[in-house]
Amino acid sequence: MRRKIIAGNWKMNKTPSETVTLINELKPLVASEEADVVFCVPAISLTTALEAVKGTNIAIGAQNMYYEESGAYTGEIAPNMLTSIGVKYVIIGHSERREYFAETNETVNKKVIKAFEHGLIPIVCCGETLTQREQGITIDFVRQQIKIAFLNVTPDQAKIAVIAYEPIWAIGTGKVATTEQAEEVCKAIRECIAEIYDDATAAGVRIQYGGSVTAASAADLFSQANIDGGLVGGASLKADFGKIVNYK
Ligand code: 13P
Repeated sequence: MRRKIIAGNWKMNKTPSETVTLINELKPLVASEEADVVFCVPAISLTTALEAVKGTNIAIGAQNMYYEESGAYTGEIAPNMLTSIGVKYVIIGHSERREYFAETNETVNKKVIKAFEHGLIPIVCCGETLTQREQGITIDFVRQQIKIAFLNVTPDQAKIAVIAYEPIWAIGTGKVATTEQAEEVCKAIRECIAEIYDDATAAGVRIQYGGSVTAASAADLFSQANIDGGLVGGASLKADFGKIVNYK
């Protein structure tokens, strides 16, 4: 039985001091025995957030990292900078990074490999645009993203990966995929992992749904056979996130 994982992607929101305030507000609400809870905060607030979650069940994740160890890469953050302060997860290849910051399947793959090398758990994002869905190529497109993201990743690494299926048309739009749509793609992702590796590896990977998840939609989505939790944007910045974590 896979353990659920519910992560908040704070995106570019909250200063370090606002981060402490929000964590203190959410701390009691997100206590859970049944799910892993992760807050992915802006890089500048990672240290503050790690301090603020001490003694709780909340793990801290970054929203991005670079795939080189160190050097002349102005503005970037190396994997060991994250691990050295206690960051456990890192979101890789979010659609906003692909769209606004020129991330490609190939850079996503390099980052996934590097994250594993450093003992970070990547939350690997994939998902189609509205046009792709309307053209009926959702599954093909997502399979391609997954196949390239996991190139040269070992089975032992893959089985601890988290994959976030986030249809782009559902992000920040208030349009949630139906549970059938979400389950269909998450199932296809698991089958794709089974094809690349084997059934045991596919059974270990945790697959999240992301895209306008709210307290109202969480229970239906997270009770699907292949959906192991969520990657939550807007609603992770509010008390609602507590209800999403404790969706049952
Ligand atoms: P929303 O929940 O705001 O739609 O964002 C989803 C997302 O992009 C999480 O990474």
